[in-house]
Amino acid sequence: MSRQRRHTACTSHIVGQGYRRSMEMYGAVPRPRFLLLLLLLAAVFWVCVLYFRLSVLISGVAVAPMERMVSFAAGYESRSDDGDKDPCQGRRVYIHDLPPRFNADMLSGCGSTDGRWPNMCEQVSNAGLGEPLTELEGEGEGEGALTGAAGWYATQQFALDAIFHGRMLRYDCLTNDSSAAAAVFVPFYAGFDFARHHWGYDNATRDAASLDLERWLVGRPEWRRAGGRDHFLVAGRTAWDFRRHTCPSPTWGTNLLFLPAAKNMTVLVVESSTAPGRGNDMAVPYPTYFHPRTDADVLHWQQRIKSADRPWLMSFVGAPRPGDPRSIRSQIIAQCGASSKCRQLGCASGASQCHTPGDIMRLFQSSTFCLQPPGDSYTRRSAFDAMVAGCVPVFFHPASAYLQYRWHLPGDHATYSVFIPDDGVRAGNVSIEDTLRRIPATVVRRMQEEVLRLVPRLVYADPRYSLDTVKDAFDVAVEGVLEKVAESMRKVQTGHPRSSWLDKIWSE
Ligand SMILES: *[C@@H]1O[C@H](CO)[C@@H](O)[C@H](O)[C@H]1NC(C)=O
Ligand SMILES: *[C@@H]1O[C@H](CO)[C@@H](O)[C@H](O)[C@H]1NC(C)=O
Ligand SMILES: *[C@@H]1O[C@H](CO)[C@@H](O)[C@H](O)[C@H]1NC(C)=O
Ligand SMILES: *[C@@H]1O[C@H](CO)[C@@H](O)[C@H](O)[C@H]1NC(C)=O
Repeated sequence: MSRQRRHTACTSHIVGQGYRRSMEMYGAVPRPRFLLLLLLLAAVFWVCVLYFRLSVLISGVAVAPMERMVSFAAGYESRSDDGDKDPCQGRRVYIHDLPPRFNADMLSGCGSTDGRWPNMCEQVSNAGLGEPLTELEGEGEGEGALTGAAGWYATQQFALDAIFHGRMLRYDCLTNDSSAAAAVFVPFYAGFDFARHHWGYDNATRDAASLDLERWLVGRPEWRRAGGRDHFLVAGRTAWDFRRHTCPSPTWGTNLLFLPAAKNMTVLVVESSTAPGRGNDMAVPYPTYFHPRTDADVLHWQQRIKSADRPWLMSFVGAPRPGDPRSIRSQIIAQCGASSKCRQLGCASGASQCHTPGDIMRLFQSSTFCLQPPGDSYTRRSAFDAMVAGCVPVFFHPASAYLQYRWHLPGDHATYSVFIPDDGVRAGNVSIEDTLRRIPATVVRRMQEEVLRLVPRLVYADPRYSLDTVKDAFDVAVEGVLEKVAESMRKVQTGHPRSSWLDKIWSE
């Protein structure tokens, strides 16, 4: 899968800018702004105090003010209490009632694999979350923190199709009247379809379900309204898996994203293959192991990682990519092995440590920085596991996060992550440990606080429950979709043709 790694002059330019910005952050605050800052802080303080008093009274939730502050900042939004405003205005979603061959049959047929693909039954169990984690006796430390009861599951990284659909079914502004909907959800399990038909099948078989879906969709009255501009679907794998044409080796994946119908829709993937704003595939977070059922689950977890002991400066979980000259995995593994401040879990064939969610989460919880070099593709699910553990991610390529996840991660990446360009690591003249040690403690603390604040929006809540006020990754994604759809509908109405969908991919 090394064909998925693409580097361009364009991306390294963005890298340079971000890097300079993060270096500037280490400087002192200029003096004239200091007084203003103080005044602002005082004002914010009082607003916060007033707010917390009120919200504690209203919600009756007995949590410490600090906890509330942490998670309040994390994207809470009071959902329209005033009665005369319709809270679903502009947010209504209609779900297409697809024939079960596009979704439910894939779940019930999870075990009929032909021997060509791995049995998916465990992975699709529990609404797509997988099996609940259990904490072994004597592992102490945990106190049940990493168990199914607290919302922890052995979730597979490509399980988003089912999780997202489950969350959608409990969305608070569903409508059965498609003409009243701001957007139309297409619950086709494109990622599962890939897994079922990729290995050992020809092009026609791989594309069959996608073509079938296209025929079904374009025949609907909902489609004709806007040629599908208001439709969206979730394909819980990387976009490369659905663009067979563009890959240097045109033997990988389906051609879903090349179908005329798909080009008009918004497609959510865990890694986009187009530059931000250029394509209609949008990156959303990989599912992590954490699926809170209540707001309190989130608050307790945040509290826990906030006070976690972090004896390791840095850590790494992953396998080398020996056949890939562009990979810096072996350099990372060597640098980590040579440092007394770095810990890693072996993933090489045979070693299964890195597949044990509890071990991974415990390591990330005890590390300040978590190294996230590209693997089979630019992005990694591990980056989200790390942030959920309160560990500051260290990226080596801008496409690993900064050019993805626009809805979920802050635009200023220096606020929550460290960037170390891969060239230096590959050339062997950059010490990751020294680079991280040079970051002042106050800057590290600020990044940790930002990561903590981001946690709610990086996790997918358990689809069988509903969070109260916390916005999770699903909520953020739906907001993004609604905004994107509204924008392209405006363009349809005003007759502006959209710029060509695939006018630029990174390799060009
Ligand atoms: C839509 O219709 C179904 C079946 O009639 C019903 O169960 C569901 O509650 C309706 N949903 C909404 C949002 O009205
Ligand atoms: C499968 O499709 C790809 C492009 O999508 C094409 O390059 C390749 O030749 C096709 N393979 C066969 C066996 O037709
Ligand atoms: C996609 O949208 C355009 C209008 O923007 C329309 O002409 C075209 O027919 C649509 N494609 C499909 C497959 O409906
Ligand atoms: C490290 O090596 C790279 C690639 O050879 C080079 O571009 C860079 O300037 C070097 N950096 C330092 C700090 O020597």
